[in-house]
Amino acid sequence: MKLLLENIRELVQVEDDPVSYRAGREMGKVTTIQNAFVIIRDEVIEEFGRMDQLKDVYRDDDLLIEIDCSRRLVYPAYCDSHTHLVYPSSREKEFVDRIKGLSYEEIARRGGGILNSAKRLHEASEEELYNDAMERVIEIMKMGTGAVEIKSGYGLNTEDELKMLRVIRWIKETAPICVRATFLGAHAIPVEYKSNPSKYVDVVINEMIPQVATEELADYIDVFCDRGFFSVEDTERILMAGIKYGLKPKIHANELGLTGGVQVGVKYGALSVDHLEFIEENEIAALKDSETMPTVLPGAAFFLGMKLSPVREMIDAGLPIALASDFNPGSSPSGNMNLIASMGCINYKMLPEEVINATTINGAYAMGINDSYGSIARGKVANLFITSEVPGIEYLPYYYGSSLVETVILNGEIQTFERC
Ligand code: NIG
Ligand code: FE
Repeated sequence: MKLLLENIRELVQVEDDPVSYRAGREMGKVTTIQNAFVIIRDEVIEEFGRMDQLKDVYRDDDLLIEIDCSRRLVYPAYCDSHTHLVYPSSREKEFVDRIKGLSYEEIARRGGGILNSAKRLHEASEEELYNDAMERVIEIMKMGTGAVEIKSGYGLNTEDELKMLRVIRWIKETAPICVRATFLGAHAIPVEYKSNPSKYVDVVINEMIPQVATEELADYIDVFCDRGFFSVEDTERILMAGIKYGLKPKIHANELGLTGGVQVGVKYGALSVDHLEFIEENEIAALKDSETMPTVLPGAAFFLGMKLSPVREMIDAGLPIALASDFNPGSSPSGNMNLIASMGCINYKMLPEEVINATTINGAYAMGINDSYGSIARGKVANLFITSEVPGIEYLPYYYGSSLVETVILNGEIQTFERC
């Protein structure tokens, strides 16, 4: 089966020679083609170019569906490299507590926050978790996300962490979106280990990691390395154990303080270090010339009213940046990647081109899938979206309150969003 998208006003983020990611000044560059076409064969992008080149490449050899994209733009689908979208129930009461003045850390210390989610997750069945999470997966696909990383971390005991990871595997097997799973047993210290956190680290290392690896339930390993959560020493022990079992790190770092999270992530070859509100010269120096993608989560900073990550400084220092939603019930209850792109522009002073790179190819790198996703390139998986009628690439982050995604194509198939 072949699909032809024709008369595209602007085809965005095309690559003849795909790169792994874009950093520094390169982040301001996005190649686009005006009045363009894309040919998709089965699940792959076969060809693209200007409309006046179409007759040279088009062979009428099999069934072809034509989609007229006049006045519309076509983008590679968003790659959301950091979410916790499998969770048991919402936490809007904490939202009100914070309006009244409690901080995220105070709520966590009182047994709310992640521990609250863990209690409820324990009571939920795999099927309930799957059904709820699939609603969110469908919601983000409709808004243009074509690849998503999902973390465990609301289990906090071996049985419940495995339950979460099985739910993530179930989503991976049944949804058309590309899914990567991350094991985050070290997301919070359970109450029973409060006086002896390293005992819990032992459980993560000796019980959880071997079972996660035996059942092949995760692609990556994460630790919330921050003030009041896991120390650099705990993080090192966990990452070493994970790496022994083939789990590459992707870690939560420097959200609550200058805790050494970035440095430990880089030291252990993390694919990404995420959050990064507290970044100074030493962190930038550690990231420079590393293979670790600095990942910023504008939704969490917005929702918690946190200080903003110094994104401009990092880009000006030559670093790449990925932007992700952090979709979760406590600090970022939204997986809307266009809104994240708008926040990138408005709050972090990123240019529209920079947020396109940050939400597509750099996000793909941060989840280890840049060879197949994150741009419009020949041979990559045909995950893309067609916008409604819009004038140009600046319009999407500018018109922040609405979804301008009209048609979503995943694995070369037009999505109708009936329940998968
Ligand atoms: O990325 N920072 C740690 N973990 C999540 C929050 C999870 C929660 O509050 O439920 C985050 O923001
Ligand atoms: Fe997170």
